[in-house]
Amino acid sequence: MQYFLRVIATAAATLTAGIATAQDYPERPVNLVVPFAAGGPSDAIARLVGQSMSGTLGQQLVVESVGGAGGTLGAARVARSDPDGYTLLIAHVSLAAGATLYPNLTYDTATAFAPIGLINQGPMVLLTRKDFDAPDAATLIQKMKESGEEISVGHAGVGSNSHLCAVLLQKAMDTKFTLAAYQGTGPAMNDLMAGAIDVMCDQSTTSIPQLEGGTVKGHAVTSADRMEALKDLPTLQELGLDGFDFTIWHGLYAPVGTPPQVVDKLNAALQVALDDQKILDRFAAVGTSTFPADQRSPAAHDAKFQAEIKTWQQALGGKAE
Ligand code: MLT
Repeated sequence: MQYFLRVIATAAATLTAGIATAQDYPERPVNLVVPFAAGGPSDAIARLVGQSMSGTLGQQLVVESVGGAGGTLGAARVARSDPDGYTLLIAHVSLAAGATLYPNLTYDTATAFAPIGLINQGPMVLLTRKDFDAPDAATLIQKMKESGEEISVGHAGVGSNSHLCAVLLQKAMDTKFTLAAYQGTGPAMNDLMAGAIDVMCDQSTTSIPQLEGGTVKGHAVTSADRMEALKDLPTLQELGLDGFDFTIWHGLYAPVGTPPQVVDKLNAALQVALDDQKILDRFAAVGTSTFPADQRSPAAHDAKFQAEIKTWQQALGGKAE
C-alpha cells in the first residue's frame, strides 16, 4: 500500500513539476536545430517561422545548423538532448526515410521524438545550371534518360528530399546519374550556380528566389499538379514520367519525454506563425503552403510521421542508390 502511495505521490509531483515548467516555459533561448547546412530550404523555413514563434514565446528561437548524413546527425543531436523544450528540431521527409536508409542510427526514429506540429508542404523544382544545353524540359528529360552517369545531380545527403527526388527520377527514367552529396541544398545550389553540377531537385522555397534572380534554370515541378507560383513549368507527369508525384513537408519536433504542456505551448506559438498573413504571403510567393486546420495538432503530426516512416520503408525497401 505504502509503495502505491509513493508511486502516486511521485507521479503527482512529476505532473505538478511539468505544469510548473510549462507555465514558466521558456525562460531562456530555445535552440532550433536545422539538420542541413545554412542557406537551404529547411533553414529558410526555420528562420521564417522561428522569428514569429520567438515573438510569441518571448524568447529567441536560435537556429543552429547541424548538417550531415541526410539530416540524421542533427536529428541525433536533438534525440539525445534533455526533453525540456529547449532543443527542438525542424525536419522533413528525410527524418522518416532515414529510419530505413540508416540502419545504425543512435535513435529509434518512431519513438525518439515528440511531434509538435506540421509546418508546410510543397513541391520541388527540377533545376539545371544556367548554361546546361537543354532548351526545354522535354529535351532535358530526354538527355537525362540517354546520358545517365554523364549527368551530375546534386543533393543534400542520402535520404534528403533532393536525394529522394533524384532516386525517384532514376527509377522513372530507368537510368543512373552521378549523384553528388552535400550537407544541404544551400551549398549544392552554390555549385549549381557555379556550373560545377548539372542538375538538382530543390524545394520551391529556395528555387523560386534563384529563378527570379536568373541564376539557374527551372524545368519542371515534381507534384502531380502545376504550381501556382511557377505556372509555366510543366509537371514531370506531363513530361511522360507516369505517376511522378513528390511533395515535401516540414514539421517541428522535441525529444520524446518533453512535457505535453510544453509541446502544446510550442504548437500554439507555431499556429500563431502559420496564421500570420505576412508568413502566408511569403509561403505563397515561394510555392509552399500550410496544412489544413484539422492536421495541425501534435497528434495529427505524429500520425503523419508514423505513416511516412512506413511509406518510405516500403518505397525504399531498405536502401536507395
Ligand atoms: C536543405 O535544407 O538543405 C534541404 O531541406 C535538404 C533537402 O532535403 O533536399
